[in-house]
Amino acid sequence: MAPDLPPQYRALVLDSIGAGFTVKTLPTPQPTFGSAVVQIVAAGALSYHREIYNGQRHYPLPTPMVGGYSAIGRIAALGPDATALQAGQLVFVDCVIRGRDDPSALYLLGISEGHSDGSKKLAREVWHDGTLAEFVKVPLDNCIPLDEARLCQTLGYSIEDLMYMGYLLVPYGGLRDIRVEPGDTVVVCPATGGFGGAGVLVAVAMGARVIAMGRNEQELERLQEHVHKGTPWACVETVKITGDEAIDTASLKAYGPVDAILDFTPPVAAKSTHLKSAVAALRYEGRVSLMGFVDFSVSDMKIVGSNITLKGKLMYSREDMLQFVKMLEMGLLPKGKDLVDTRTFRLDEWEEAFDAAAQWTGVGRAVAFLP
Ligand SMILES: NC(=O)c1ccc[n+]([C@@H]2O[C@H](COP(=O)([O-])OP(=O)(O)OC[C@H]3O[C@@H](n4cnc5c(N)ncnc54)[C@H](OP(=O)(O)O)[C@@H]3O)[C@@H](O)[C@H]2O)c1
Repeated sequence: MAPDLPPQYRALVLDSIGAGFTVKTLPTPQPTFGSAVVQIVAAGALSYHREIYNGQRHYPLPTPMVGGYSAIGRIAALGPDATALQAGQLVFVDCVIRGRDDPSALYLLGISEGHSDGSKKLAREVWHDGTLAEFVKVPLDNCIPLDEARLCQTLGYSIEDLMYMGYLLVPYGGLRDIRVEPGDTVVVCPATGGFGGAGVLVAVAMGARVIAMGRNEQELERLQEHVHKGTPWACVETVKITGDEAIDTASLKAYGPVDAILDFTPPVAAKSTHLKSAVAALRYEGRVSLMGFVDFSVSDMKIVGSNITLKGKLMYSREDMLQFVKMLEMGLLPKGKDLVDTRTFRLDEWEEAFDAAAQWTGVGRAVAFLP
């Protein structure tokens, strides 16, 4: 047994989908080759976590299991092949697990075991339990070092606020994937949700001008205020989604040609026409990152005639994470409390936490567990 680890730890266990969680005491995982055991300081909760665990979203999960997704924690113990990570170091614990011999065997720890034989094998037999716990065992590659002094002292982030990285990294993966450059005009749609709102902050930090689309004008106004408070130089326009494709297209075109689109349409909005309007406003050779779930016809003449690139994207790469941490540590995103207002809960408050996560959504809002 690793000397610094207690023999047992507390964790939120889901015995089966829909059964609800129980706080249980389990044997603490031990470090092995290729792994780290991390002491969790703050674990994130998603707006739709409740729907995953009650079965509404039909995400496949290997139960019984410890829930969660990404987290912020300190390295508690390391496998013998660790070369750079140090005990006590603050890290972002990433929930995206990939097969080392097949990166397409990919799944999201605590969210879905994925759909390939390889991902299911890893989720069921190797990296099984999530971060809603005092400790988690993850691959070494999933621990992204954070400069604690720079982030927490100089830039004023609390550790729970750093958990907002779980939101920010996802749009960064999409925006980087379609090579968004400083000066580009980027439509984020819809922008009033958790990932869409984070997408606006990240696109601004990457030097883009943003057109944020959404149904809710009050929330669009809050989004603009939030972004301007933390990054006063930001150029953020808003366009209301009216449900009339032609009107929305005209509203977007009023801002000139669009270089790129970041789409986060949730499944309930799959029939909404906002993406069609955004594509109609794209310039020749414009790019689209499809990160949501939208019904969209690729036989559209605009796509072919204007050489449009449509790229599906799930999450981000390890390289994206390392690059994003450099941006955050550089101070390119809103600093301290201007970034995010995080509501925190203990493990035994899991019902309240998931309810809060479903309500406390949009830019600059997050919910975290402090185990
Ligand atoms: N590809 C990836 O790696 C990845 C990663 C994470 C999440 N996602 C996907 O991204 C989606 C969005 O996540 P989120 O956390 O941002 O969700 P969220 O916080 O629940 O936000 C949902 C957004 O969709 C809008 N919306 C809902 N119904 C709509 C409709 N009928 N027409 C137009 N807009 C509508 C909401 O607008 P209102 O404010 O008007 O309600 C809000 O902007 C998720 O469903 C998830 O599947 C993908």
